[in-house]
Amino acid sequence: FPCDSIRNFSIIAHIDHGKSTLADRLLEMTGTIKMSSKGANKQVLDKLKVERDRGITVKAQTASMFYQQKERQYLLNLIDTPGHVDFSWEVSRSMAACQGALLLVDASQGVQAQSLSVFHTARERGLKIIPVLNKIDLPAAQPDRVKAQMHSIFGIDPSDVLHISAKTGEGISAVLRAIIERIPPPSGESTGKFKAFLFDSSYDRYRGVISLVSIQDGVLRKGERIASFHTRKKYEITELGIMHPEEVPTTQLLPGQVGYIACNMKQSSEAHIGDTLHRVGEMVEPMPGFQPAKAMVFAGIYPVDSNDFPKLEESIKRLTLTDRSVTVQRESSAALGQGCRLGFLGSLHMDVFRQRLEDEHDAKIVVTAPTVPYKVVYKDRTVIVSNPTDFPDIIDTSMHVREVQEPIVKASIIVPEEFLGEMMDLCFEHRAEDVDHRYLESSGETSSRALLTCTMPLNEIVMNFFDKLKSRSSGFASFDYEAAGYKRSNLVKMIFLLNNKPVDALALIVHQSAEQTIGKMWVKKLHKVIPRQLFEVPIQAAVGKRVIARETLSALRADVTAGLYGGHYERKMKHLENQKEAKRRMKRIGRVDLPQEAFFDILSSK
Ligand code: GTP
Repeated sequence: FPCDSIRNFSIIAHIDHGKSTLADRLLEMTGTIKMSSKGANKQVLDKLKVERDRGITVKAQTASMFYQQKERQYLLNLIDTPGHVDFSWEVSRSMAACQGALLLVDASQGVQAQSLSVFHTARERGLKIIPVLNKIDLPAAQPDRVKAQMHSIFGIDPSDVLHISAKTGEGISAVLRAIIERIPPPSGESTGKFKAFLFDSSYDRYRGVISLVSIQDGVLRKGERIASFHTRKKYEITELGIMHPEEVPTTQLLPGQVGYIACNMKQSSEAHIGDTLHRVGEMVEPMPGFQPAKAMVFAGIYPVDSNDFPKLEESIKRLTLTDRSVTVQRESSAALGQGCRLGFLGSLHMDVFRQRLEDEHDAKIVVTAPTVPYKVVYKDRTVIVSNPTDFPDIIDTSMHVREVQEPIVKASIIVPEEFLGEMMDLCFEHRAEDVDHRYLESSGETSSRALLTCTMPLNEIVMNFFDKLKSRSSGFASFDYEAAGYKRSNLVKMIFLLNNKPVDALALIVHQSAEQTIGKMWVKKLHKVIPRQLFEVPIQAAVGKRVIARETLSALRADVTAGLYGGHYERKMKHLENQKEAKRRMKRIGRVDLPQEAFFDILSSK
């Protein structure tokens, strides 16, 4: 395949606007996969169970297809991108291997917050953008209105917009034509020095690391020796080929092509996303690499049964082989035992990982409250703290702490104008600043859409901001955010005491203005789940030496019987006594016996 018969593209869209469905249609139309019966949506590219459950794409998948137009055969490489705000790093990494992108917008929902962010990423990368309106089969579709939005927001000429239904297949051949006609072919010299760009990797038990590469120059063949620019390590190509959509070995990979390589790479840490590969003995100019994914949400993950730690650690290790953006560190807690502190790109990313641990590895786990990385500025150094335990108890200049800073994001919300006020309130409740808005359509519409922008602490959106946003806008608001640096803030460490002893696993970092509300809420929650003891137990929330909230768990008396949690607990304990295991699981904090499951209840209830 000469370069000018190759097109590399991705599909970019807001979540649920139909990316996977369109990808399926393209694969069908080009005969890469068999027609699914009656247009049923098979979504070949969404492989993981959690992706099917949640209907979101988590990991980018790539597929090559052949397409005949007139006398000529083309090789089209689709680089699928994940569709959620947490995964924007994966989106931009996939785009680096493309020359063009299909910007897919749902004709009934219009432009949404992530349509905006993916559009900007694609434009920054200099990609040719083909605007596509999807779901025109829906009675609620408003193609003209959405085209007007695309014109006003992106400056897209309405006559360039394709109309399709990925569901019925209408308009798909026009999409294939547009890919060939509008997207420039990759440039590259087959005679040049071999140079490839590594943009994704996965792990195979037998063959080791499988890397996805985009060939920039030169030809790569089996048996050749290549080196990584980043690690300087050398490898021999044992297998290469294209994704069609599964791996199909070929004899060579040509400039402009996208394909997979296996080269006896043993550790997935050797495959650096953004790395440049070259032939051993040849020098090449490296491709501009990527910033490594930065973990922004951290949480401790512990086994419900402490004996399961080795198994849990092994499962986490396995999972991180397929998801390299997760960072892992061992940690231990007096209350929960041995565990791991994991770093994620965002809170959805965390949920997805947790679900995969539970689904694919059958792990029973307790996850601590998520924390963002704070900067603690001391007189002589700055420390990033992503575990509340390491946060200073008191922020006091005499303690050499100058200040504390928290990560800030720039948030965009798109919402019908009738919800604008409600959304503004929500943002203000979450410490938003620089709140601004504009309308996305010119007047005359009954209900226009507004784009609300503001800056907000990341801390405010990791808990359940997204759920609130959805419920307070009747599901209409869409949301996206990007990192916007750090800002000085009045943060305090809140600890919880049981019978006057702190429970390390429950420490939180909160803004001072919210300490009362949060302290009271957690103390109530603890009061509800902690089983009564034979003596009275004070449950307190404290900041420094100040007690913010208190509840008292009254003593369990012999006449307490059925119906009460305490009674229930007693019966349960009798039963458990027969199992030796039970003793081991009890955690003793300030003379209070706490079943490990209580932590599960505390940490899983919102
Ligand atoms: P993520 O992978 O989560 O980003 O979502 P996606 O953009 O891949 O969306 P997906 O293809 O999963 O489609 C979302 C929903 O819209 C599914 O229920 C599809 O069946 C439906 N859908 C997709 N295209 C069309 C269409 O043209 N018409 C109609 N009526 N429904 C469609």
